[in-house]
Amino acid sequence: MSKQAEKYLETDEWSIIERGFHKEKNAVSESLFSIGNEFCGVRGYADEGVTAPTLQGCYFNGVYEWAREANETAYKGITDRGHYMVNAVNPIATEIRIDGVKLDTGKCRLENYIRRLDFRSGEFVRSFTVITNKGCVGFKFTRFLGMTDFRTLYQRIEINTDYPAEIQLCAGLDFGTRHGGKRGRWTKVHSSSDGLVCLAVGKTQSTNQYIASFQSVNLSSEATIESTRTPLSVGIKIIKRVNGAFIFTKRVTSFVDKTGERGVSVANGKPSSVPFEIALAENKKYYADFWKSSDIVIDGDPENQQGIRFCIFQLQQTYHGVAPDDNIGAKGLTGEAYGGHAFWDTETYCLPYFLFNNASAAKDLLLYRYNTLDNARRRARQLDCDGACYPIATLNGDEACTLWQHASLQFQPSTGVAYGVMHYVNVSGDEDFLVNYGLEMLLEISRFLRSRGEYGADGRFGYFCVMGPDEFQMMVNHNCYTNYMAKKTFEYTVSCFEKYGLKFGATDEELAAFKECAEKMYIPYDERTKLFEQHDGFFRLPHVSVKDIPVTDFPLYHHWSYDRIYRNDMIKQPDVLMFMLLFGGDFSFEQKKANYEYYEPRCIHESSLSPSVHSILASELKKHGEALGFFGFAARLDLDDYNRNTCEGLHTTSIAAAWLNIVYGFGGVRSDGQALVINPSIPEIWRGYSFKLNYHNSLITVAVSKDKAVISVDGSVEAVVCGKRTVLSGTQEFQI
Ligand code: BGC
Repeated sequence: MSKQAEKYLETDEWSIIERGFHKEKNAVSESLFSIGNEFCGVRGYADEGVTAPTLQGCYFNGVYEWAREANETAYKGITDRGHYMVNAVNPIATEIRIDGVKLDTGKCRLENYIRRLDFRSGEFVRSFTVITNKGCVGFKFTRFLGMTDFRTLYQRIEINTDYPAEIQLCAGLDFGTRHGGKRGRWTKVHSSSDGLVCLAVGKTQSTNQYIASFQSVNLSSEATIESTRTPLSVGIKIIKRVNGAFIFTKRVTSFVDKTGERGVSVANGKPSSVPFEIALAENKKYYADFWKSSDIVIDGDPENQQGIRFCIFQLQQTYHGVAPDDNIGAKGLTGEAYGGHAFWDTETYCLPYFLFNNASAAKDLLLYRYNTLDNARRRARQLDCDGACYPIATLNGDEACTLWQHASLQFQPSTGVAYGVMHYVNVSGDEDFLVNYGLEMLLEISRFLRSRGEYGADGRFGYFCVMGPDEFQMMVNHNCYTNYMAKKTFEYTVSCFEKYGLKFGATDEELAAFKECAEKMYIPYDERTKLFEQHDGFFRLPHVSVKDIPVTDFPLYHHWSYDRIYRNDMIKQPDVLMFMLLFGGDFSFEQKKANYEYYEPRCIHESSLSPSVHSILASELKKHGEALGFFGFAARLDLDDYNRNTCEGLHTTSIAAAWLNIVYGFGGVRSDGQALVINPSIPEIWRGYSFKLNYHNSLITVAVSKDKAVISVDGSVEAVVCGKRTVLSGTQEFQI
């Protein structure tokens, strides 16, 4: 893989640390040091602002703007009105002056600069000493977001001077944030201030959503204070002659009205009164409990240990089931790229993590799709189809992707939801969910798939003019992934309705038609070579040698004309290999090996979702070196800025894939069949590793060393371990 690491962080097992201010990497650090709690996400930017590449981003889950007015003259079915997660209030806007000179780490003389994010508390700390012409002024900035009291953010600034310096600190709530480089997305509809407390209420321009933020300030000693106000902000100015220590502490509680129905009355919420120390202690407890049931330990590889904990920590910060109308954006709440949208990534890449760590959050993710079923129905009508078609990119359930070739031709979100339902029911055994919500989604998705598919002149069923997960092949016929996933969706839907009876208006004729679609589905496959053809005609495409593409050509979409990317057999991300992973039990070792060896060399991994899938299959195929190489990339993708775009936000859904990589890859876990499978292997350079699965109310700990796996279960669980069916209980050892 022609990608290179750009390392600048220290290796530490429980935190990320930047020592020395890396000005040119500032926006990358801001993404990496993001804090979040699903409700809200704040990038790791300087509270006081900085002259360096920066994006002062603070995002609230589900708070968005329409991109532009709908265009009445657009072609039917082409989305002409996108929407995007909008940068919201800056809750920690703090201008600081030392004897009248503005604090700016991009300009001041600095010593001992450290930025640190702690995975055991969610605490983000920046500390440094400014050398002025009179002496030294030390600063320590701390911030964290409550994980239990999720509405509240804490900020503390500790200042230490070795000479009497006049410190001026303006701390406020600022709705004048920039989005996509432009100012002015918010209207401040109300503000009030009274000494150390103030309130600002802002409204989005096109969606009429409201945010009310309350600020409450505490000072370690008396100072002169006055209120400040601009058209988009409100705050407090503090002036203090400091000779020694001074501590400023601030708490911001925010309420959001996503519906626009409550309007300014969101300001009737009750702001938190919990002090900084107690809230921090609560966060530490939250994370101690969390790591107890979700940690992955790697012995003998500190870099990957840091990488995987960073991934788990950031995923947990992004989503853990706070509200069923939240979802997981491809960049989480850490940046503006991808408009904050959720993709098929949610069910295909992220869901397994929640299935094995937090089943109710997994259910919430599927309920999000259930609650947006009507949007998906409308989308299907726009595409001249029946049933429900889930959007490729969305925040509110409507299709937000304005690139028609993706929005109109990719159906992996719909088959992904069906797969998610199947996977959830399989792992959780939650039949009530299936009956009350799952069946209806399955039926509507199958109706869509039946109406969008066609019988070709040869009588075979399949999809014409589509784009599969590999986005480098557009308008192809019989994309193997789409056809295979649709076939499985029809089969699962039919089997569920046969089991639970006709519901939601399903008829016997309809089920018979689904069955026929599945039976006649064309799956392009060559028995002699055991290769699935990615789409009809793929094998006849001109060949490009991926390994000979100069590294300076990446990312390709910036360096190759758009159409040039499409005209050959190079692929962006796994397509055939993807369905072979999702339904691993359907394929033999030889089939997997043949397809891996054919498709991997053709893949440029331009999607960050790609390496972990390859790593998991490489492990299964006993290509252990390759598996570890891909894993290192997946686990440290953002930490080492492999794709050179971490500045735009973290690759949150691909960090979920790094978890999959350990559990499904090295751990050999499979959950697509009836029994839970655990078949561990270990990379040569590791002394050992362990991971945990919450399965059917039991916590399973799998600890793997050079020649054995020790599995402990609090309860009892049926599983197939190292090829043998067994009932796990207590602690058992298995040779690997
Ligand atoms: C990938 C998609 C993915 C999206 C969001 C794209 O680059 O090709 O498969 O859904 O990123 O992660």
